[in-house]
Amino acid sequence: MTFPKNFLWGGATAANQIGGAYDVDGKGLSVTDITTAGSLNEPRYLTYKLNGKLEKTPAVPGAGLPEGAVGAIDPNSYYPNHVAIDFYHHYKEDIKMFSEMGFTTFRLSIAWTRIFPKGDEEKPNQAGLDFYRRIFEECKKYGIKPIVTISHYEDPLYLSEKYNDWQDRKMIDMYVRYATVLFKEYKGLVKYWLTFNEINTALLLLNSFGNDDADDAAYQHAYQKLHYQFVVSARAVKIAHKIDPDYVLGNMICGVVDYPLTPDPADVLETRHVMEKNIFYCGDVQCKGKYPTYAKRLWDEHNVHLDITEQDKKDLAEGTVDMYTFSYYMSNVIATHDVSDKVGGNFSAGAKNPYLKYSEWGWATDPTGLQYYLEVMYDRYDIPIMVVESGLGAVDKIDSDGKIHDDYHIDYLKQHIEAMQKAIDDGVDLIDYTTWGCIDLVSAGTGQMSKRYGFIYADRDDEGNGTLKRRSKDSFYWYKKVIESNGEDLGL
Ligand code: BG6
Repeated sequence: MTFPKNFLWGGATAANQIGGAYDVDGKGLSVTDITTAGSLNEPRYLTYKLNGKLEKTPAVPGAGLPEGAVGAIDPNSYYPNHVAIDFYHHYKEDIKMFSEMGFTTFRLSIAWTRIFPKGDEEKPNQAGLDFYRRIFEECKKYGIKPIVTISHYEDPLYLSEKYNDWQDRKMIDMYVRYATVLFKEYKGLVKYWLTFNEINTALLLLNSFGNDDADDAAYQHAYQKLHYQFVVSARAVKIAHKIDPDYVLGNMICGVVDYPLTPDPADVLETRHVMEKNIFYCGDVQCKGKYPTYAKRLWDEHNVHLDITEQDKKDLAEGTVDMYTFSYYMSNVIATHDVSDKVGGNFSAGAKNPYLKYSEWGWATDPTGLQYYLEVMYDRYDIPIMVVESGLGAVDKIDSDGKIHDDYHIDYLKQHIEAMQKAIDDGVDLIDYTTWGCIDLVSAGTGQMSKRYGFIYADRDDEGNGTLKRRSKDSFYWYKKVIESNGEDLGL
């Protein structure tokens, strides 16, 4: 069992979770810039003004503001993404450290608002374009191939307000303009592009957090938003291929495996239906170029009526992705009966799996689920696959020797690399593994810094204190050996 030659090893990040410099060099406000810090028990909030009054509403990735609201920064709230780990000013040092680990790839996203500060400008912001050019050139210097997410949970605030979080077809033009600029500008520096991060969270999060009673309007909103995003993603694929036939485009799915809690056929059927709605729906449209047959059932369940044109259908058919890419952290359990043993984590809820261990944030560690997912998806789509996020969020402690002995990260990643090996052995065309938060970053779910995934520790806490100094953890040296041996040496 071995990983293919040229397998891409690296780590993944998102602009808003590492970048900082939220208002520097012409950058406009993103939705994340009005998102406060939270914790496991306290949600993050979007802050806004409505009729002149400062208000807040719980933030769910992809959700918008109430009608008529204008996003605003509350001087009495803490916004962890404003500084994050200040990658904006530390990128040289950080990329050098990635290269020391032997990274052959680095997944990052572009902040839309650095390129188009409001989102609807005719011309891009040159300072923003220059910043990413410097990053890609730095990567090139070390032989690191970037994987670039065009939109990772950070729509321009202005567009989000104006078009009510993707409820207007005009968003298609805005995104196409933005993506086209990127494809032209970075030709020769970037090969891999992902159109949207975890596009399926629009549906997945409707019934997370124990919130099973999202109404029909919420479903209408989510399905319509997704339709416009599918169309724009397909158009981006077509445009990218025209600009550079070597470009490789992928979708990006939040990959969660669902298991039935019992052999009751009702549990088994419900599990399949949950997988269809939460996982397969988005993958099917983006990989197969049309809506699956079960889509009608999903829409009918919530009286959803979509604005879909003939041109949209043509675009979907012509703009299928070249590869399937996904994040994988955990599995969930589906039960149609009442259950007493429940999970209470961020982004995870429902019945507890008695066979798995859970992290402090309630996420189940399940490497077998990764193998299962890889095999199912490869069988379903038959295109190359990337695991573009994977990892364990945990609290790190600096020991008396000044080091960080994060054997829990190593243990988690080791098990998942073994699972990938098994899937490859089974014939899956897996081409990449980019662990999440290769350098510590702000958690998307909770806004905490203390939920750390990285090989590199960044000195900043949940209240914004710290020097931002970087330091290698034990896992840094471990991952270096893994990469050097192309996944053969998983020992400490
Ligand atoms: C994925 C997102 O959902 O999971 C990332 O693509 C996110 O942006 C990651 O950070 C881990 O989630 P969290 O809540 O621990 O940051």
